[in-house]
Amino acid sequence: MITPVRRNWSPKELFNGLTPAMFTAEPSAVRARWDKLWPDLYTEYDARYLKQELATRNLVVTAEAAAFLNAWAIDEERHTDGFIRIIELVANESEKDLRERLDARPHDFSPIIEHLKDEFSLMVMIAFDEMCTCRAYAAEKPFYDGLGNKTFHLWLREVIADEAVHSMNAVNVIRACYRDRIGQVGPILDNLIRASDNLRYCGTFVLDYFGTVYSKELLANSRLATMRNIAKPLTV
Ligand SMILES: [Fe+2]
Ligand SMILES: [Fe+2]
Repeated sequence: MITPVRRNWSPKELFNGLTPAMFTAEPSAVRARWDKLWPDLYTEYDARYLKQELATRNLVVTAEAAAFLNAWAIDEERHTDGFIRIIELVANESEKDLRERLDARPHDFSPIIEHLKDEFSLMVMIAFDEMCTCRAYAAEKPFYDGLGNKTFHLWLREVIADEAVHSMNAVNVIRACYRDRIGQVGPILDNLIRASDNLRYCGTFVLDYFGTVYSKELLANSRLATMRNIAKPLTV
């Protein structure tokens, strides 16, 4: 059986030396930071609801996909913890309030359920979605550099690397368990990209392509990169 690649780092350790006093700013700047960071936080947090939905629907059937999703869920919780700390540091919020606000959000999987037919379509969706996330975070470098401390640059680097690994781990499940269905990946991704045009994000973790970073070009390039990775032979 293939096992997922894991990365070992801790946002708690990374942000250890920072305090909110180091990042005070005018209300408008704090507001802008919040507007940027809050969607990043809640989309990471929504991973737990996707995982729950998959369990309810009994969608995961192979040991490879189960191992991937367990590792993935731990990483997304790590990202959630990191974003909570960043918002505490730069946007005047407390962990307690943020957690309450997160818990109060609704989740509706019905708009994306037609794309979650089986484990294979789930893995294709996640491989693509994580590639998009990886590239979207990469486009946010100027924001993090603008916060004025190199720790945020390091944070972004770790998160980007995690998202790239998530995409590759999902790709590896496809290559290991679904070789015979690789011809279906292109049409599934075309369908997803088409659907994402009219989809309002409802707390589903996947298909969170709102915001200016998620351009048509980013989606098309992420599709290409995912297809390319899936086409490569699996070396274990
Ligand atoms: Fe993440
Ligand atoms: Fe991820």
